[in-house]
Amino acid sequence: MLENRYNNSPFEMFSYAGPDYFCDREVELDELVKAFDSRTNTVLSSFRRLGKTSLITHLHYYLSMRKDVICIYIDVLKTKSDAEFIDQFVTGVMRALDKIEPQLVKFLKALGNVRPQAGIDPATGLPTLSVDIQKKKDIGQTFDTVMNMLLDRPEKFQITIDEFQQIENYEEPTVIDAAIRSFFPKARNLHFIFSGSDQHLLSMLFASPKKAMFSSTQMLTLDYISYDAYFKFIKRHFLDSGKEISDSIIDELLNWSKRYTFYTHFLCNNLFMNTVDKVESQDLYKAMERCIKYFEGAYYFFEKTLSKNQFLLLRAIAKEEIAINIYSKDFLSKYKFSASSTKQALKVLVDEQLVHEKNTEKGLEFFVYDVFLMRWLQEK
Ligand SMILES: Nc1ncnc2c1ncn2[C@@H]1O[C@H](COP(=O)(O)OP(=O)(O)O)[C@@H](O)[C@H]1O
Ligand SMILES: [Mg+2]
Repeated sequence: MLENRYNNSPFEMFSYAGPDYFCDREVELDELVKAFDSRTNTVLSSFRRLGKTSLITHLHYYLSMRKDVICIYIDVLKTKSDAEFIDQFVTGVMRALDKIEPQLVKFLKALGNVRPQAGIDPATGLPTLSVDIQKKKDIGQTFDTVMNMLLDRPEKFQITIDEFQQIENYEEPTVIDAAIRSFFPKARNLHFIFSGSDQHLLSMLFASPKKAMFSSTQMLTLDYISYDAYFKFIKRHFLDSGKEISDSIIDELLNWSKRYTFYTHFLCNNLFMNTVDKVESQDLYKAMERCIKYFEGAYYFFEKTLSKNQFLLLRAIAKEEIAINIYSKDFLSKYKFSASSTKQALKVLVDEQLVHEKNTEKGLEFFVYDVFLMRWLQEK
């Protein structure tokens, strides 16, 4: 059934299409399965759009095949307070349990302090559940009740909380990390993955001795998919669909999109959809142009809203692809920047997440993480 839906393009962009359409990550998958089996709670981090959420879905696909395992996925990116976090959490748990325990909604109603809301999703026609915590003082109690309910169950649970760094952005100091942490010692059937993009926040959450999660979790950092694995994946899918593509075109495609999963996949998808039986170099160039065009509106917006210094620095970093030693004489004189204005501008670009930084042996590296934006800037 799944297969039929993806006859169109094997480079699915927005939902998981099964292991056949998932590229590599074998080592990481293996590590996560082992973490689950040994109940080692894990922090999964990477740059944005490199593949964390996809990897979690892939992991859940396999774990769900086990009869005694229930997988729960919770995205807390849009939450603004502990109450909203708990709300998301309870909703996620209820959704997962509802499939095996139809009595659950009744049970939650009996709790009194949450209001389960059952409904039908107009888009999918599937039943939905959400909860609404009534009073502030019930927040902690609701969380404890739900956690204890999970502890009492015979199943094993894999619980992933995605965009976990968000809790550091709440207006009021959060107690979520401490609340979850307090369940670690007794949670014999629970395994947690905390996933997120903002390296600074995540390391603050997990590596600072003052923080509740300190030393109770292992870190797994997701890197780029290897050249060989991505190359084989692309070749296989074009050939399987009866489309001829040369090695040199795949090579150019991977280099241009920098093997950055979202962008590489987007380009592959576009190229695939726009070729009939043989990919020529011209087809690749046209696909590259189209990819940039799709996002160009946003790029002009950056040009308008950033200050002149900020935009020039962004362009300079794009031209370098990877900018090392930004404060060196070489870099500053090459682009005619002053050290002080560069410092200010860089802070804005990093805070706005237009530029990512990476600690390496050679020093701090900076790059424009949106590959299409980088290519657009290089042409300017
Ligand atoms: N291993 C993979 N195989 C195939 N496509 C992937 C893979 N990882 C990521 N993608 C693609 O890249 C996009 C961005 O990945 P995502 O998991 O959302 O990144 P993140 O959660 O790190 O921001 C996905 O929508 C998917 O199209
Ligand atoms: Mg994600």
